Amino acid sequence: MRPFPRLLYLVVVCLSSVSSGFARRTSAYIRSEFPSVDIPVDNEVFAVPKDSNAPQQVHITQGDYDGKAVIVSWVTANDSRSSEVVYGTVQNKYDHSAKGRMTKYTLYKYESHYIHHCILNDLKFDTKYYYKIGSGASSREFWFHTPPEPNADASYKFGVIGDLGQTYNSLSTLKHYMLSGAETVLFVGDLSYADRYQYNDVGLRWDTWGRFIEQIAAYQPWIWSAGNHEIEYLPYMGEVLPFKQYLQRYPTPYMACKSNSPLWYAIRRASSHIIVLSSYSPFVKYTPQWIWLRDELKRVDREKTPWLIVLMHVPLYSSNEIHYMEGESMRAVFEEWFIQHRVDVVFAGHVHAYERSYRISNIHYNVTSGYSYPIPNNAAPIYITVGDGGNQEGLAGRFRDPQPDHSAFREASYGHSTMEIKNKTHAFYHWNRNDDGSKVETDSFVLYNQYWARNLRRRKLKNIKGTYTNFSD
Ligand SMILES: *[C@@H]1O[C@H](CO)[C@@H](O)[C@H](O)[C@H]1NC(C)=O
Ligand SMILES: *[C@@H]1O[C@H](CO)[C@@H](O)[C@H](O)[C@H]1NC(C)=O
Ligand SMILES: *[C@@H]1O[C@H](CO)[C@@H](O)[C@H](O)[C@H]1NC(C)=O
Repeated sequence: MRPFPRLLYLVVVCLSSVSSGFARRTSAYIRSEFPSVDIPVDNEVFAVPKDSNAPQQVHITQGDYDGKAVIVSWVTANDSRSSEVVYGTVQNKYDHSAKGRMTKYTLYKYESHYIHHCILNDLKFDTKYYYKIGSGASSREFWFHTPPEPNADASYKFGVIGDLGQTYNSLSTLKHYMLSGAETVLFVGDLSYADRYQYNDVGLRWDTWGRFIEQIAAYQPWIWSAGNHEIEYLPYMGEVLPFKQYLQRYPTPYMACKSNSPLWYAIRRASSHIIVLSSYSPFVKYTPQWIWLRDELKRVDREKTPWLIVLMHVPLYSSNEIHYMEGESMRAVFEEWFIQHRVDVVFAGHVHAYERSYRISNIHYNVTSGYSYPIPNNAAPIYITVGDGGNQEGLAGRFRDPQPDHSAFREASYGHSTMEIKNKTHAFYHWNRNDDGSKVETDSFVLYNQYWARNLRRRKLKNIKGTYTNFSD
C-alpha cells in the first residue's frame, strides 16, 4: 500500500471532475425501429450498368502520402482488356492517361469479375479532375477534387462513417452524408457485411456493395480501415486467408508511408495527418504494426499538419454492453503514445451506436499499480465511436448503467459524423442522426487542436508569467 499516491489520485479526480463539469448524457432519444434488413439485390441502388462491359463499382482513395495521387478502382464484368484511366482538368479533354493493373480471384465457387486498380500520379493540389474509364460506348466519366497541399492553415471537411452495410438504414446514412458538404470519408471499418451470407453470396454481396457506394465513392476518396467483417475466415467453405476480398478490392497507399501492410498506414491530407490502425492484426510490442506506428508518430509534423487523427475499428473506450472492453488490449499498448503525441481524436466503429468520451486516460494502470479507472487528462484524445452506419445486425441499444464518468454523450441511433477543420486551432465536430430530416440538435462541439490551441495558451501563460509552462498541466 502506498497511501500517498492514492490520496493524490483522489484529489486529482475530484478537481478535474469539478473543472470539466462532467455533464454525462445518455440521450433520451428513441429511434423508431425500422427493420435493419439488406436491400434486395434487384433494387435499383445495386443496378448494373446497361452495357455489360461498362465499368461498375467505381471508387477512389488517396494514392500517396500527401494527396497528389489518387487510386481509381473499378470492376468490369466482361472486359479484361484495359485498366486505363484517362483524365484531365477540363471536362471531355483528357490529356493524361495512366495504365493500371487487373486482378481476379475466386472465393469458394464465386469467381470475381475483373478488378482494376490504376494510380494517377503527380496531380496538382486543390484541383478538380475529370476522369474516364472503360472504352467506347461503355465508358463512364466521373470527377474528383484533390486536397490543398498539406499546410497548417488549410480548412477541410471530413466525414466519418462506420459499419455501413447495405440496408435501407445504410442508404439513409449515405444520403445524409452526401448532403453534408464533406470532402473525404474516413471509414472506420466493416464495409459490406457480405460475410453474413454463405458460399457464393459472400462474393456477390461485395459486388452489390461496390455498386451501392459508387454514387459517392467515385467522386471523393474513402480512407479505408478494416473491421472484423473484412476478416472472412470461412473454413466451412475452405476459405482461410484473412481479408482476402477486402484486400483485392480496396487498396490503400501503405507503401508511401513505409508500412509493410495495406491494413495499417498513414496519409497527410490538407491540415491533417491521419493514421489508420488494424484492430485485427498483431500490434503488441515488436510487431510490424507497433514498430511502424512508433516511427510514423515521429514523422508527424504539427507545424505542417496540425491535426492528428487516428482511425481504428474497435473503440478503446466504449460503455456499450456489446463488445465491451474488446479494445482493451490495444489500449494497453498504444494509449500512452496517443497522449505523448497529443492525438486530437480517435475515431472507431464496431459498436453499432454513437458515443463520445471526455479527454481521459488510463495510463497509470498496470497490473500492480492498484489504479484501474480512467481519469481526466487534457493531453489525451477524445474517443468517438461512429459504428452507426446502419448494417443488417441492427443497433447496439444497451449501454452500461450508470453511465461511466468518461462517457460524455451516447445514443443508439444510425448516423454519421463530420469534422470541419477551420484552421489550426479550431474544428467543428458534428454527429448527424439519420432520423432527423432537417436541423435537430444532436451532438456537436468545437474541437480545439491539441498542439496549436495548447501552444497559444502556453504562449499566453508565457506572456503573463514570463516563464515557460510545461505541457503536463
Ligand atoms: C462478353 O463479350 C463478348 C464479346 O464482346 C460477347 O460476345 C458476350 O456476349 C459478352 N458477355 C456478356 C455477359 O456480356
Ligand atoms: C506500475 O505502476 C506503479 C505505480 O504507479 C509503478 O511504480 C511501476 O513502475 C509501474 N510498473 C510498470 C512496469 O510500469
Ligand atoms: C480559427 O477559426 C475559429 C472558428 O471559425 C475562429 O474563431 C478563429 O478566430 C480562427 N483563428 C484564426 C487565427 O483565424
